Amino acid sequence: MFGGWKALSFVSGVVVSVLGLTFSFPAISNSAEYVGNSGCKCHMGKGCFEGEEYKERLHSNTWEKRLKGTPDAENPECLKCHATAYGEKIAEAGKKYLPNVQCEACHGAGSEYKKLKENYQGKGKDAFKELLKKDPLEARKVQYDAGLIVAGINGPATVKEQCLRCHWESKDDKNKCPKTDKIMDYKEYFKKDDHRDEDEVDIAIKKLSPEEKKKWAAILPKDEILNTPLKPKKKE
Ligand code: HEC
Ligand code: HEC
Ligand code: HEC
Repeated sequence: MFGGWKALSFVSGVVVSVLGLTFSFPAISNSAEYVGNSGCKCHMGKGCFEGEEYKERLHSNTWEKRLKGTPDAENPECLKCHATAYGEKIAEAGKKYLPNVQCEACHGAGSEYKKLKENYQGKGKDAFKELLKKDPLEARKVQYDAGLIVAGINGPATVKEQCLRCHWESKDDKNKCPKTDKIMDYKEYFKKDDHRDEDEVDIAIKKLSPEEKKKWAAILPKDEILNTPLKPKKKE
């Protein structure tokens, strides 16, 4: 009995210090709510690469174009793939889902991330940008700590896994759209949907020593497909 307790207290000592670390992350992501693309307005502005790419994709129209005005507009079966955050915590009162496949469908609930960008450490709207210039990797870390997910880095182990939540590679897949027989050609689909451009973080990653790579392992790409060349930046 006593021995058991001793063992336990030893274990709980470790657990406490581990908890101290892990606790802050679930606490943040649990309270995060879906804010919708209007909450991502920095990315949606004119000339912003990922926003422009996104608007060209059908993801930005999956509800508008396919469900709106049909008997299936509110059908949960369809909403899980053609909409965002169905059944999740949404910031705007009374909303059961957000139309279309929005940024947060793949990047996670954004309310904490949004706060961070608008007011990092309570220092106002330029504080995050300053951090990004000074210490790009730390900037990425704090974004991820605030709940931002990027598949192949800190979310689903591979990008493909994320795509397969709503796409399929075989016509006989159970998790497929009842309205189409199209299948995903992953490489082609990825190329189309890829919206990375070279930013401060990518440049900083290229310069990392093997030592530093170990230090930042948690925020570096693990999925091979993320090592493919970035799309060239469009001239503004
Ligand atoms: C498992 C995810 C999933 C579910 C569930 C789902 N869809 Fe889809 N739907 C898709 C995807 C992905 C596509 C596009 C496929 C592609 O282009 O490769 C699509 C395409 C469509 C299209 C266009 C078909 C065409 O001719 O190109 C319509 C219409 C549609 N869905 C309606 C619905 C309706 C209505 C429901 C509910 C009854 C539904 N979907 C459920 C994922 C889904
Ligand atoms: C269908 C899933 C999906 C949607 C929707 C989506 N993203 Fe992404 N995003 C990804 C994945 C996967 C990556 C990494 C690989 C890539 O670019 O495809 C990524 C990468 C990014 C990056 C680049 C990070 C870097 O390393 O440069 C930014 C910025 C980004 N997304 C912002 C957005 C914004 C803003 C929206 C909405 C307008 C959005 N994403 C919508 C899945 C998605
Ligand atoms: C939350 C569900 C969801 C996820 C996750 C998702 N998709 Fe889609 N995607 C759809 C739906 C729904 C359509 C159908 C659009 C339509 O036809 O209305 C679609 C269509 C597409 C299309 C064809 C239309 C176009 O704009 O060219 C591509 C390409 C695509 N998705 C790529 C991807 C990739 C790559 C991933 C993984 C990074 C991914 N999708 C993840 C739901 C999703």
